[in-house]
Amino acid sequence: MNVKYEKAKEILENYHQEQVLKFYEELTESEKENLLDQILKIDFEQILELYHQAQQQPELQNDKIEPIPYVDKQKLTEEEKEKYEKIGREKIKSGKLAVATMAGGQGTRLGHKGPKGSFYLFPNKSIFEIICDTLKQAQKEYGITLNWYIMTSKENHEETTLFFEKNQYFGYPKEKITFFTQGELPMVSHEGKIILSSKGTIKEAADGNGGIFESMRRAGIIEELQKNGVEWLFIGSVDNVLLKMVDPLLIGLTETQKHLAASKTVAKRNPKEKVGVFCKINGKPNVIEYSELPQEMAELRDQNGELYYGESHVMCNMFHIQMLQQISKTKLPYHIADKKAEYINTEGNLITPTEPNCYKFESFIFDAFKSIEEMTILRVKREEEFAPVKNAEGPDSPETARKLYQDFYHIK
Ligand code: UD1
Repeated sequence: MNVKYEKAKEILENYHQEQVLKFYEELTESEKENLLDQILKIDFEQILELYHQAQQQPELQNDKIEPIPYVDKQKLTEEEKEKYEKIGREKIKSGKLAVATMAGGQGTRLGHKGPKGSFYLFPNKSIFEIICDTLKQAQKEYGITLNWYIMTSKENHEETTLFFEKNQYFGYPKEKITFFTQGELPMVSHEGKIILSSKGTIKEAADGNGGIFESMRRAGIIEELQKNGVEWLFIGSVDNVLLKMVDPLLIGLTETQKHLAASKTVAKRNPKEKVGVFCKINGKPNVIEYSELPQEMAELRDQNGELYYGESHVMCNMFHIQMLQQISKTKLPYHIADKKAEYINTEGNLITPTEPNCYKFESFIFDAFKSIEEMTILRVKREEEFAPVKNAEGPDSPETARKLYQDFYHIK
């Protein structure tokens, strides 16, 4: 008797997911083994719970939601800026800062084959190199080579590491760069069935950028940060070519305010812009993602005509090591997205749907903010720090990002 098989079969029967083994007999021995291992690693209880959650409406109605207080960089005096920057500079020089890039996303909207960071914004410069340039600049400015942690997904890990290798790590010391992979969760059909991407593979997808905390802990990075005496970890996205990862002002301000987390914002361009907005929910800092923000809230304006919820989350987040340790041991909530995903049907054929057909479960990095009372929010100028590359054309495309980058660096 194959013990593994019996165990997997029993679990599937308990959760009414027998379809997963439908093509088992057609598989090779190694495919059989892989499928059984995949089944035994899945937390079916959790998946079922998430599926039931997907059937319900999110419950924002009962929460008390209000705008979040922020500091506007433009309104700081020169003395204030100097004071904060001095504190931040000392921290950076004495090795208290490390940086991380979240590069596990699929970048579907951009339509680029391969990891988003491997997209060439200019003929001789990829996004990864643009991000790395800022770290090389920090080397010159502060005389320190910061540790750079890069989160990949199972899907793009190999391609990402190969891209770095091929490009000689853009001249950054290889031993200062650490790659780690985020987790995955199965995708579930509208009928509550786990779907297959091939006859021998359950379809899984990256579990969202909120997976960064747990994945860092699993990879031993949180422990390493602590051992190295790092106090602050800046976490940024891979798709903002004006991302400022090393910012003494942000560090100094957050230290002065005695907060354990910080984030930069820019004023939201218009109610429809696809950015999450900062707010306070039941007194705690949080972000409402664009996909979950009710239209009337998005359009609400104050007496000056400014958007009432106008502080955009631009993925410039910074966490104190103490907070990282705590969050990495807790489970962030999952958000549910209705997606179009190819799957193997009961006849064994690969189907490409034209309409959303299944649920994807993702945790979001900003849900970590809910666990604290207060955090530092620094509003900065969009043209200085936010040039996203999201879509193939139109707003937030390579074309707009290129222009913002060239203007900022005065490149003709
Ligand atoms: C994200 C933010 C949104 C913000 C906007 C600004 C979240 C959930 N949403 O939205 O609030 O206003 O950017 O540009 O944070 N990623 C992973 N693993 C994943 C999914 C994503 O590493 O499983 C990374 C991506 O590689 C990228 C970043 O997270 O660096 C943002 O990814 P994406 O989901 O494309 O962001 P948006 O939907 O644009």
